[in-house]
Amino acid sequence: MKMLRLRFCLFGVIIALLQCYFAMLSSAQITHPLEVSVLQAVRRKLIDTQGNLNNWKKSDPCTSNWTGVVCILDKNDGYFHVRELRMLHLNLSGKLAPELGLLTYAKRLNFMWNNINGSIPKEIGNMTSLQLLLLSGNQISGPLPDELGNLPNITKFQLDINQISGPLPRSFANLNTVRHFHMNNNSISGQIPPELGALPQLIHLLLDNNNLSGYLPPELSKMPKLTVFQLDNNNFNGTEIPESYGNMSTLLKLSLRNCNLQGSVPDLSGSPHLLYLDLSSNKLVGSIPTNKLSVNITTINLSNNMLTGPIPSNFSGFPHLQKLLLKNNNLSGDAPTNIWQSVTLGSFVKFTLDFRNNSLTNISGIINPPANVSIKLQGNPVCQRANELNILPFCGVPTEDTEAPGSSNDFPEGCKTQSCPFSDNFEYVPESPAPCFCAAPLGIGLRLRSPSISEFQPYKFPFELWITDHLGMNRYQLVIDSFMWEEGPRLRMYLKIFPSFSNDTYTFNTSEILQLMDEFATFSIPGDDTFGPYDLLNFTLLGPYKDVILKHPKSGMSRGALLGIVLGSMSLIVAISLVIAFIFYKKHKRFYRQVFKKKSTQKLPFKTESVREFSFLVLEMATNGFDNSMQVGQGGYGKVYKGVLADGTIVAIKRAHEGSLQGQQEFFTEIELLSRLHHRNLVPLVGYCVEQGEQMLVYEFMPNGSVVLDTSSLVKAKDLQVFL
Ligand SMILES: *[C@@H]1O[C@H](CO)[C@@H](O)[C@H](O)[C@H]1NC(C)=O
Ligand SMILES: *[C@@H]1O[C@H](CO)[C@@H](O)[C@H](O)[C@H]1NC(C)=O
Ligand SMILES: *[C@@H]1O[C@H](CO)[C@@H](O)[C@H](O)[C@H]1NC(C)=O
Ligand SMILES: *[C@@H]1O[C@H](CO)[C@@H](O)[C@H](O)[C@H]1NC(C)=O
Ligand SMILES: *[C@@H]1O[C@H](CO)[C@@H](O)[C@H](O)[C@H]1NC(C)=O
Ligand SMILES: *[C@@H]1O[C@H](CO)[C@@H](O)[C@H](O)[C@H]1NC(C)=O
Ligand SMILES: *[C@@H]1O[C@H](CO)[C@@H](O)[C@H](O)[C@H]1NC(C)=O
Ligand SMILES: *[C@@H]1O[C@H](CO)[C@@H](O)[C@H](O)[C@H]1NC(C)=O
Ligand SMILES: *[C@@H]1O[C@H](CO)[C@@H](O)[C@H](O)[C@H]1NC(C)=O
Ligand SMILES: *[C@@H]1O[C@H](CO)[C@@H](O)[C@H](O)[C@H]1NC(C)=O
Ligand SMILES: *[C@@H]1O[C@H](CO)[C@@H](O)[C@H](O)[C@H]1NC(C)=O
Ligand SMILES: *[C@@H]1O[C@H](CO)[C@@H](O)[C@H](O)[C@H]1NC(C)=O
Repeated sequence: MKMLRLRFCLFGVIIALLQCYFAMLSSAQITHPLEVSVLQAVRRKLIDTQGNLNNWKKSDPCTSNWTGVVCILDKNDGYFHVRELRMLHLNLSGKLAPELGLLTYAKRLNFMWNNINGSIPKEIGNMTSLQLLLLSGNQISGPLPDELGNLPNITKFQLDINQISGPLPRSFANLNTVRHFHMNNNSISGQIPPELGALPQLIHLLLDNNNLSGYLPPELSKMPKLTVFQLDNNNFNGTEIPESYGNMSTLLKLSLRNCNLQGSVPDLSGSPHLLYLDLSSNKLVGSIPTNKLSVNITTINLSNNMLTGPIPSNFSGFPHLQKLLLKNNNLSGDAPTNIWQSVTLGSFVKFTLDFRNNSLTNISGIINPPANVSIKLQGNPVCQRANELNILPFCGVPTEDTEAPGSSNDFPEGCKTQSCPFSDNFEYVPESPAPCFCAAPLGIGLRLRSPSISEFQPYKFPFELWITDHLGMNRYQLVIDSFMWEEGPRLRMYLKIFPSFSNDTYTFNTSEILQLMDEFATFSIPGDDTFGPYDLLNFTLLGPYKDVILKHPKSGMSRGALLGIVLGSMSLIVAISLVIAFIFYKKHKRFYRQVFKKKSTQKLPFKTESVREFSFLVLEMATNGFDNSMQVGQGGYGKVYKGVLADGTIVAIKRAHEGSLQGQQEFFTEIELLSRLHHRNLVPLVGYCVEQGEQMLVYEFMPNGSVVLDTSSLVKAKDLQVFL
């Protein structure tokens, strides 16, 4: 018992000293040292032309406001750990470092809207806490690593608008927590694995604008929560839409436009909540099923197929219908031009019926619809009787289909221009209950990436409610400055959020701004059926917000750091370094196992206790990316670096340059020889690395002229290499 308590006590003291040690290394270093090295490695692989990461050099990441680094203090080990990398829109290029895999506390990795290229490091599969992987809008290429299927807590993959190629890994079927697959606009190819049908939580499957082929797996309809299913612009070379796709009870949107599909239109009466159906530009044949569709449907697009038979009468009776598009088929019978009468038409709601280029011979119902109803009948036999039927306007030149961009720059009447400093980004809040309330908005670029509507105007109000309800604001505080439909269709919009007039401040304070940004950047606004998933494009901080640094509140200095400042002294540090190395190893065995895990199948052909294999990654981190400042020697074979391993052990690393690489067999023979040589003048060999086309030997570091004997070409036999 006593023994145990003594051990605990000793342990406590050692931990305190450990923290003190790192606190002393740089004035107040309290981010976990391994994660500091990881961030340095991440920085080295990035190219930052605008200097957005200039502050990633000084002292400690978590305590000195490194751009985009959000941390959390782990009370158990007394260190800050990286919780999130929020590198949104920083014009970064370069690559993602494999070292990211060591950020095991990180929940969110956000590099959206940069120019990053290279491939997704497979090591990201080791970020066990990761929930959001956000890489939209870069130039990332290469395949999706199988290892991403290991992420135990991932909920959102946002990898769209890149150049990712290769197939969808089967391992993704293991992702029991994943809710969002947003991988549109890449070059993903091959068969969709049927195994994905087992994903229990998936709600959004966006794979449009890729290069998928093969067949559409019927198994996908088994996903119990799927709401958005969008695969447009792929090439399923002539396969059919499985009947089971009409059976997804949670489905809100089914979009299989331009997929090279054959067969017939499925019966969709098993999807009672469907809002948006697009099967256009395929080779579908047969007639349109007459089964009942959801009463709330907004969009039906079956254009550009080879459909025959009549237009079913059940297309009337949908009060929220915005578009019924059936052009370029071979439909016959009557054009149900009276459908508009069952639609709830607000004064500015547009309603489109497009029946162009079919074989329709008659119309049903009355004509003279209101101006916001657009009916297109060009290219049908019925237009030969246009005069007689009084439908000339619908047989003439067709009008544009897509809703025009909108904006609301209302300047409230009766407010004086000069009393609001517009030049400083202040403006009148249009619908403020206090007249002429002048305040400074935050700008937010947002995009709805798969909305279930075709016309936004009628949904502006519900949209404003959706956002403001979640943010706990009044509706007048949100202004939709502009919106515009894009290819997809997706809806890009620019929002302005104003402070509340009741606060009497006209601006948001810094913590309010950070909180608002958090809400958007962490995607914590819950999804909405109608609006679907959204994209964050940018934050715009102008006028009074220009100088707001996007830092994040910290929970103050850890006890360790304070202790360090009180206790620390250099001699103490020297004395405890050895103990620390041991404790550190014990505490962070997991990192070690991860880091030292062999990647290659290459094995030493003999057994040795004393020599271990190092991964390239570990040696790269130990030497600051083989930085010149770490170089301590040079010979014909290459360079020698001083390296500090994560446990504090100092080593000398001999890295062969390309010209002096030897055959694997010879290299291993040399290692065997070195591992058996023991001599007091000889520096002991600790390990080696044979990864990524490299050959490196790792020795114990001995300052002051210790001598290393090498036996073969790595260091020419006659050389006696002197360190320092
Ligand atoms: C971090 O930012 C805050 C506020 O901008 C500032 O007061 C503090 O000095 C910064 N810390 C460092 C180490 O730069
Ligand atoms: C972003 O970086 C690229 C080079 O990588 C540069 O050409 C471009 O001007 C930068 N954009 C901005 C807005 O600075
Ligand atoms: C990645 O971008 C860098 C510059 O930003 C360029 O030099 C390099 O060739 C690019 N690599 C690939 C694979 O596109
Ligand atoms: C991830 O970690 C596990 C053990 O924690 C290890 O086996 C594996 O090799 C690591 N993978 C990568 C790609 O680093
Ligand atoms: C995954 O999430 C669960 C519940 O949110 C949590 O208990 C668990 O610790 C997480 N796992 C990792 C590796 O972070
Ligand atoms: C996605 O791909 C489609 C088809 O290539 C293209 O029209 C659209 O503009 C792309 N969207 C983005 C945001 O790049
Ligand atoms: C799409 O995949 C086909 C093979 O299925 C390949 O030949 C073609 O090059 C790919 N296209 C793109 C743009 O990746
Ligand atoms: C698939 O495409 C190939 C080449 O484009 C074609 O020869 C083949 O007939 C197609 N298969 C089907 C089922 O349409
Ligand atoms: C649709 O679901 C029902 C019951 O849920 C089932 O009986 C039927 O076989 C399913 N149809 C298809 C084509 O999967
Ligand atoms: C149609 O929409 C209304 C209002 O949003 C909703 O209450 C109703 O449940 C929806 N009906 C179906 C079948 O989804
Ligand atoms: C933010 O996005 C909006 C909408 O796309 C765009 O109009 C605006 O120029 C963007 N602002 C910046 C600073 O990129
Ligand atoms: C501003 O006013 C709103 C309600 O009017 C209130 O909830 C909020 O806490 C106020 N903010 C500040 C900083 O006083």
